[in-house]
Amino acid sequence: MQFPEFDTQRLKLTMLNKSDAEAIFKLFSDDLVVEYYDLEAFTDLSQAVKILNTFETRYKNKQGIRWAIRLKNTNQLIGTCGLNAWSPAMKSAVIGYDLLPEFWGRGYMTEAVRRVIKAAFSGELSCGELNRIQADTVPGNDASESVLRRLGFKEEGLRRQSGYWKNRFHDLKCFGLIRSEFHEL
Ligand SMILES: CC(C)(COP(=O)(O)OP(=O)(O)OC[C@H]1O[C@@H](n2cnc3c(N)ncnc32)[C@H](O)[C@@H]1OP(=O)(O)O)[C@@H](O)C(=O)NCCC(=O)NCCS
Repeated sequence: MQFPEFDTQRLKLTMLNKSDAEAIFKLFSDDLVVEYYDLEAFTDLSQAVKILNTFETRYKNKQGIRWAIRLKNTNQLIGTCGLNAWSPAMKSAVIGYDLLPEFWGRGYMTEAVRRVIKAAFSGELSCGELNRIQADTVPGNDASESVLRRLGFKEEGLRRQSGYWKNRFHDLKCFGLIRSEFHEL
């Protein structure tokens, strides 16, 4: 199956490739972007090259997919989004996304993620038709929660001290969206 690419009103979701390393470095070297991540801000371009390789390997191994989010009018890469830990057997996956701060608050991520969910629930991806998409957020990440709630995700609980990074434990809020609850198929 060819790598699936999508258009939305203002965005293009495309394959990431090696020439995106600079843009990916810009994204993940921003403290605001990684504030809630188990990831220190990148300090070297080689880290961007490495994460691009990780995304590619995950896709080849059928463990997930990551798209570049590009502005339709300029082709600029402004963020990424994708599915991790996808399980055709369980018909579920975990969603993730990040956007350059200068583009926050304009509805871009809601627009991109909506298209990814539609693809996952309608069988457009090589993992087959999924039934559940999960998202984990760190308490305080209100922008991410807004994106999820607007798309119909329900808060399902708190996994206490579920993660450890940046020298401390982190609770994780668990959000889930079930196919039958998504009314945009
Ligand atoms: C989460 C993120 C992708 C949101 O992208 P975005 O394009 O700004 O999202 P949208 O514009 O589609 O929606 C943002 C919502 O959050 C709100 N919001 C934006 N910035 C906010 C902030 N700093 N604090 C609280 N709410 C905020 C907006 O008002 C909007 O809410 P609404 O639906 O009630 O109007 C972006 O903030 C980001 O990249 N954060 C860093 C990476 C990250 O944390 N990813 C998620 C990990 S779970």
